[in-house]
Amino acid sequence: MKRHWSPVLNEITPLLIQTILNEYQLSWRGVHGITHWARVLENGLRLASYTGAQPLVVALFAVFHDSRRTNESLDPGHGRRGAEFGKILNGKAFHLSEDDFTLFETACAYHTDSLTAGDVTVQTCWDSDRLDLGRVGIIPDPRYLCTNAAKQPEFLSWAYERSRLQYEPEICRHWGARSTESVGSDCHAETPNFLEAAISAFVICRPTPGDQNAQRWGPHQPKSKLLKLSLKEDGK
Ligand SMILES: [Fe+2]
Ligand SMILES: [Fe+2]
Repeated sequence: MKRHWSPVLNEITPLLIQTILNEYQLSWRGVHGITHWARVLENGLRLASYTGAQPLVVALFAVFHDSRRTNESLDPGHGRRGAEFGKILNGKAFHLSEDDFTLFETACAYHTDSLTAGDVTVQTCWDSDRLDLGRVGIIPDPRYLCTNAAKQPEFLSWAYERSRLQYEPEICRHWGARSTESVGSDCHAETPNFLEAAISAFVICRPTPGDQNAQRWGPHQPKSKLLKLSLKEDGK
């Protein structure tokens, strides 16, 4: 990761991630799980350096937009639920101003609506997600991207290859998640209070020193047939 991203990455703490994972209902290794969030984050921060998007909004979008899914398919309303979850944690686990929270909320709520127009920060969020469609066998179509930066062939192919190969960004290790399904299950502690959940998640999910399995959550499952982007299929 580039050094100038560090202040933003410091805001996406392992405790925040474990808090989100503690409530996550699907497999960490799924197509909408933690490695997707990490790639979306890196797509977004890299895009933001070209678009001028608000990087903290982009980073928080990455880890919240799919965090409240209840299935790996269409799941209407999951973006809005992710924004509502973020609202609970704003001011506790991170801090967004009222204006920036509105951008975050808009980006999360409408990220599956095939929109391309909007504030540049919102556009950057949407592009960061759409650039990671290679993991489900879809080549992002520039017509459905929002920013000129994301439409550049070099950027598209960089993000597509990482997605297709289910590349796991280094930030996943910093977040302290592990690769086994059982750990994910353990993290669904029945703790109703945010702070209790956060503390519980942090204790339960702390990585074991020297854990060699922290590199990859899921096997690479290449698709034999690449499909053209169809946002209506909600592969995001
Ligand atoms: Fe989504
Ligand atoms: Fe997504």
